Amino acid sequence: MSTFDLRLTDHPTSDADRDAVVADPVFGKFFTDHMAVADYTEGRGWHDHRIVATEDFRLHPAAAVLHYGQEIFEGLKAYRHADDSVWLFRPERNAARFVSSAQRLEMAPFPEEAFLASLQELVTLEQAWVPQPDGEKSLYLRPFQIANEPYLGVREAKNYIYGLLATPVGAYYPAPVKLWVTPNYTRAAPGGTGAAKCGGNYAASLAAANEAAAHGCGQVLYLDGAEHRWLEECGTMNFMMLTADGEMVTPALGSILPGVTRDSLLRLAAEHGLTPVERQISIDELREGVTSGQITETFACGTAAVITPIVGFNSPEHGEQVVGDGEPGARTKELRAHLLDIQYGRAEDRHGWMRKVC
Ligand code: COI
Repeated sequence: MSTFDLRLTDHPTSDADRDAVVADPVFGKFFTDHMAVADYTEGRGWHDHRIVATEDFRLHPAAAVLHYGQEIFEGLKAYRHADDSVWLFRPERNAARFVSSAQRLEMAPFPEEAFLASLQELVTLEQAWVPQPDGEKSLYLRPFQIANEPYLGVREAKNYIYGLLATPVGAYYPAPVKLWVTPNYTRAAPGGTGAAKCGGNYAASLAAANEAAAHGCGQVLYLDGAEHRWLEECGTMNFMMLTADGEMVTPALGSILPGVTRDSLLRLAAEHGLTPVERQISIDELREGVTSGQITETFACGTAAVITPIVGFNSPEHGEQVVGDGEPGARTKELRAHLLDIQYGRAEDRHGWMRKVC
């Protein structure tokens, strides 16, 4: 039985136009014909779960999201396997994180079963939009929730909309990236929203990302907000480094996003002869380790980014620093291939992470 009432669009994309988009996808630019939506009203709970044409929302100009930013989102992908079946990777983790993000922003949590049903039902309907498994192509899924109560007082809203969009994508970072260790911006403070996936965190990262670009870097490496000493994350990805002692080291959770890819790589580490370690890493340890060769490889990871090799760092204090020979490391490439092979059904799913949609 469907959780979402199906209301088909009366202006579907032609097969030829859809196939052209799916063959050469651009991240987040073209959307499937349908989206999933549900409404929340205080006293009534979540209601009117439906799949409808992807079209504009009507929002009152006083809608709370427009003023105080009560917004959260998720990101996950649907992968086509060689036998044409379509699969999700650990969607339960996204469902659970969506609830914890909602709780941090005092929003009504969207039930995990309904979240999973929206994925199942929308991806099944839009399976023709899932690209062939070539390169990193997939159907990116963007669940989100906004506060739509028209009210200008500062308090949690009483009405919300849940939405799920789907967009065919290729690689988010097609090339290795250098990181800018920003002296000017922090991403999160103790007690802040760093561990929640909320739009405000990303809005606040844009100035730092532009500062990074002005210094020849593709992303930022944030240091902690209290001491400006401890590595946090890259804004769009979690950060990881491999050591000469065979450790896979990553900043401990707290004020960073608890990434699904981060967690998966920590679990895959042993299969690559690596010991997973979650702890504080100081910027001095990173600099000295890269110089001495104790840190052999660095990379960043996330759903959109998969594993993106980090080949160098730049900062006003210490200038440019290259990791290894400035090329993606062998272990980084192995881990990336292994993860993609699991997601595309080419490697055994020993951890039981894949969920068949259709
Ligand atoms: C994801 O990796 O899915 C994210 O939400 C990051 C975003 C910058 C694309």
